Amino acid sequence: MNKKVLFVFGTRPEAIKMAPLVKAFQAASQFDTKVCVTAQHREMLDQVLDFFEIIPDFDLNIMEPNQTLNSITAKILLEMKPVLDTFNPDLVFVHGDTTTTMAASLAAFYSGAKIGHIEAGLRTFNKRLPFPEESNRRITSVVADYHFAPTQTSKDNLLRENVAEDSILVTGNTVIDALLESVEIVKDLKHPEIDMLKALLQEGQEVLLITGHRRENHGDGFIQICEALKEIALKNPSMLLIYPVHLNPNVLEPVNRILGMIPNIKLIHPLSYPAFIWLMNRSKIIITDSGGVQEEAPSLGKPVLVMRETTERPEAVEAGTVILVGTDKEKIVRETQELIENSSKMERMSQLHNPYGDGAACSRIVAFVSKL
Ligand code: UD1
Ligand code: UDP
Repeated sequence: MNKKVLFVFGTRPEAIKMAPLVKAFQAASQFDTKVCVTAQHREMLDQVLDFFEIIPDFDLNIMEPNQTLNSITAKILLEMKPVLDTFNPDLVFVHGDTTTTMAASLAAFYSGAKIGHIEAGLRTFNKRLPFPEESNRRITSVVADYHFAPTQTSKDNLLRENVAEDSILVTGNTVIDALLESVEIVKDLKHPEIDMLKALLQEGQEVLLITGHRRENHGDGFIQICEALKEIALKNPSMLLIYPVHLNPNVLEPVNRILGMIPNIKLIHPLSYPAFIWLMNRSKIIITDSGGVQEEAPSLGKPVLVMRETTERPEAVEAGTVILVGTDKEKIVRETQELIENSSKMERMSQLHNPYGDGAACSRIVAFVSKL
């Protein structure tokens, strides 16, 4: 009998990183594969499902405006139960560190299913940074049976927590599988959002791409970030700063208030994944607090300034393609200006190697699970 496999995810980055894996399992005839979305994100999740042509078998549709961690957790725990009872999976795959990941893992654990954790073992060793993701990830590690670690560093973190070595597989990050596959598609893609981006840009104009959304940066952190971006825009009037603004109201409000009227800052709606890849490729520098963007940008040869005090992704910092700039206004401005003005530093950062994978993570995971 086919092994029953259930994928559960809910936010934009989980969907991007799970999409190539869902496809790989659907293509392998020895599995009966189903997809459950919590829809912790609605619009930003649907953008990804549309691009990868994934139709969920179960949709919990839990998102509400300005939702709390408690409501996300409680709804998922309750609403996963009938899904797990109906499908009765042998293995439930969760991804990363969101509240969907943590709550779905717990629900799967209570149901008795085995749990496979994709992108396991990342740690900052500070349970409140990033908040709540570091603790979500650790809780998931406790209940997971199989740990798919993207790098040797993440495997070592798990070994230090006494996770059994034969339950860990170093895979590379599935984000690189998604990226390499999509970069090819984007080359020839006719897409209205890409046309819109082209219309914003003058021939040869340099682009600074910005994204930001972390909960620990809400409030004062975002005000500092926005003030820094305003100063960078004023110092570099020929550059265009493009910021696809995350739909979280705690992000939208300060970003629109502080940056809404600056002529060389364009605040736009979150982009669909192919348009975002196109824009990363067209950018000179990327400034972000995103986890996924930190992993993707080095593959495209783009230097990244990360607006976080600490990162659970130290590999690219060590490789030199990522610089941590925190959320202090002066530091963000200083480091960005240095990169803009110092072309040899810029050149060096653009040519370094990506430590996050080779695009074969999904096939490694399928091969491992096939032998269970
Ligand atoms: C969530 C994850 C975070 C991940 C991020 C990726 C948690 C606690 N946080 O943070 O780890 O890095 O997603 O983007 O799991 N909203 C919409 N439409 C959407 C998406 C969000 O309107 O399509 C708004 C809603 O008002 C929602 C709010 O954003 O309540 C916050 O969404 P939520 O998933 O709770 O937090 P994020 O900051 O998106
Ligand atoms: N992304 C996207 N459109 C955007 C901004 C980002 O498709 O407008 C993609 C990006 O390529 C990356 C992922 O979303 O794969 C990162 O998501 P996010 O920053 O929301 O979450 P994090 O990675 O920090 O958890």
